[in-house]
Amino acid sequence: MLQFEVKQDDVYVVTFPKCGTTWIQEATWLLVNNLDYEAAKKQQLMRRSPYMELKGFYGGIPFDTLEAAKHTPSPRVLKSHLPAYLVPKEIWSKKAKVVYCARNPKDMAVSFYHFHSGLGTWEGSIDEFVEDLINNDIMYSPYFDHIWDFWQLRNEDNVFFTTYEAMKRDLQKVIVDLNKFLGRQELSGEELNTLLDHLSFKSMKENSSANPTELIVTSHASKKVKPGFEFMRRGIVGSYKDELSAQTQEKLDKWITENLRKYNFTLEEIF
Ligand code: A3P
Repeated sequence: MLQFEVKQDDVYVVTFPKCGTTWIQEATWLLVNNLDYEAAKKQQLMRRSPYMELKGFYGGIPFDTLEAAKHTPSPRVLKSHLPAYLVPKEIWSKKAKVVYCARNPKDMAVSFYHFHSGLGTWEGSIDEFVEDLINNDIMYSPYFDHIWDFWQLRNEDNVFFTTYEAMKRDLQKVIVDLNKFLGRQELSGEELNTLLDHLSFKSMKENSSANPTELIVTSHASKKVKPGFEFMRRGIVGSYKDELSAQTQEKLDKWITENLRKYNFTLEEIF
């Protein structure tokens, strides 16, 4: 992965899992591909924009994502959850664009728990999941190092840093800024409205080319998927408030405070 051959016009969508990857990825793919909704409909996002480090079965068929990434037509939009120091090295020397999306750790934790629990890859409680997250025992941890590295890079010309919360607050602003960052022609009012509608939670949930639920459920590797599993779950800010016990929220708050002190930044600055 580190040695993956980068092309200058590649765009890398990088996130910690459950931070709004699919949402910003669909937006980025459409902007890079001249709002080609027809092409977007024909192929699932996971195929149009491979999740680089995930080898496995997509819809029951073996799928080598790194190979798929190599053969994706340019300009490529590629996805990774890896931290800054593990993404392809040439991103930095060739100045390929990176779109990073962060999310409040409490909502990320809830979303991540439901994802694994629904997939059947986590059998414990949500409290135990949070415990593992705090101990950096969850895939792609540590969460704060992940965000911190990209936060520090946010002013680089080739890095676009945004958040799930910013997208919920004002999706239009994020899309306009992202479009500019990607060097695309300015969108007309109509183009923008159509795109915002396409990216709404309801539209994306109903759109099997963007929502990977079906693909995951039919995947050979996910035989333990629970009935009713939904990738597009609540799509809100603050779902931790009615899903985490007061005690677990306190634990998370303590962990967050310790990390913010260590890195010397505030959540308000980011979110
Ligand atoms: P919830 O589980 O809180 O609902 P990722 O793509 O990084 O795995 O993130 C998945 C999270 O993003 C899920 O959060 C999902 O519902 C949310 N999401 C995906 N598309 C969205 C959209 N168009 N609007 C709002 N939230 C969206």
